[in-house]
Amino acid sequence: MKILDKIKDRSAIVGVVGLGYVGLPLAVLQAKTGFSVVGIDSVAEKVDLVNQGNNYIGDVDDAELREVVESKKFVASTDFSKLKDCDVVLICVPTPLTKNKEPDITAILKVTEQLAQYAHPGILVVLESTTYPGTTEEVILPRLEETGLTVGKDLFVAFSPERVDPGNEDFKTHNTFKLVGGVTKACQEVAKTFYEQSIVKIFPLSSPRVAEMAKVFENVFRSVNIALVNELTQLCERMNINVYEVIDAAATKNFGFMPFYPGPGVGGHCIPLDPYYLAWKSKEYDIHTRFIELAGEINEGMPYYVVSKLQRILNQQGQCLNGSQVLVLGVTYKADISDERESPATKVMELLQKENTNIAYTDPFAPSICVGGQQYKSQELTPELVAGSACALILTAHSAFDYDMIVKQAPVVFDTRNGTRHVQHDRERIVLLS
Ligand SMILES: NC(=O)c1ccc[n+]([C@@H]2O[C@H](COP(=O)([O-])OP(=O)(O)OC[C@H]3O[C@@H](n4cnc5c(N)ncnc54)[C@H](O)[C@@H]3O)[C@@H](O)[C@H]2O)c1
Repeated sequence: MKILDKIKDRSAIVGVVGLGYVGLPLAVLQAKTGFSVVGIDSVAEKVDLVNQGNNYIGDVDDAELREVVESKKFVASTDFSKLKDCDVVLICVPTPLTKNKEPDITAILKVTEQLAQYAHPGILVVLESTTYPGTTEEVILPRLEETGLTVGKDLFVAFSPERVDPGNEDFKTHNTFKLVGGVTKACQEVAKTFYEQSIVKIFPLSSPRVAEMAKVFENVFRSVNIALVNELTQLCERMNINVYEVIDAAATKNFGFMPFYPGPGVGGHCIPLDPYYLAWKSKEYDIHTRFIELAGEINEGMPYYVVSKLQRILNQQGQCLNGSQVLVLGVTYKADISDERESPATKVMELLQKENTNIAYTDPFAPSICVGGQQYKSQELTPELVAGSACALILTAHSAFDYDMIVKQAPVVFDTRNGTRHVQHDRERIVLLS
């Protein structure tokens, strides 16, 4: 097959559609591997930044991006007609939810339409966006076959989920197992050969549906286990038991237990969203995925739990939410990264706004944020700022925070992430989730 030769000698041109958290690192990886890469994004500002060698994603190395841009191995564009030159197209567009928590695959549909216009014999198309099982074969494949191409003969289609863990220093795209499910055996061979050029470990699967299901299963697994520990935390709080001590104790068992930690809710573009893709699809098969719904209910309830506990904490100081100054520490959805999408901190702040609380926040990764239509600027974390607040509310435990200083200065610290676990002094001023 000509496409296999082009992949093996790296003369294949690779198109990456969607240059976000997933697409940009992937495009850089492919360019470093030796392929000529065309990155396509609908947002012109992002395309300009890439073409100037300006990085906007934490997991991309600035120097590596500059190198592949300067050597013209990687060029970005808003022009979809560039797809006609591509031998391989990787789709990395967003898969959000509608307001009513149903899958919104508009971006996948739009890209598929563009591909239908520019696809040519011998092309490999791989969907990397997280979605419900069936998307590749039920949505993308039929539209591409309408163009006269035949899957497995002159059209190769696969699903291969991105499984990157933002901010993880040990596991990046190139050394994380890559699941690959092709529509036919030939699709599988072409897709597997392509990924083998840049990724150390490939895990071939019998179909795109299995790969799609595996990806959502991973995220449902996290969502359900986080919900379990969040529920247990609420019980521990009623029973006056420290949940972190419980988790540490359970984790001493060296088989059959994996620690998950409670928090003010779940965030990011994956865990709060992806399970609902599966829940939606399951209804087509008369199955109501109760675990998914229950986990969503518990995790989405955590910001409310945090606010009502904060209310009690202030009450004990003779204060109330209305009019008190609360200092929020950390607004990104997890520690030491800059991604604020779906961050539970935003929800907590929205709830505090409704109570007329004066909110100040500090986050070294988020210089400004907009919550409920109001713009906030990150304040410098000084002893005066902490001491001047009624409560220091830790919502994301960034490692840059000076926890000793925070505990020393704050009248009370409500730590929803156990970021203060190493602080030895003034522990009576620290309130944990339970
Ligand atoms: N962020 C993660 O940690 C992560 C991990 C694994 C999987 N995923 C999945 O990968 C997919 C992409 O996520 P992301 O975090 O990279 O999203 P993102 O929002 O960071 O990036 C998506 C990019 O696609 C562009 N885009 C949107 N519509 C487009 C269109 N019609 N044509 C061209 N470009 C378009 C956007 O401008 C943006 O730059 C999602 O399905 C997500 O669930 C994300």
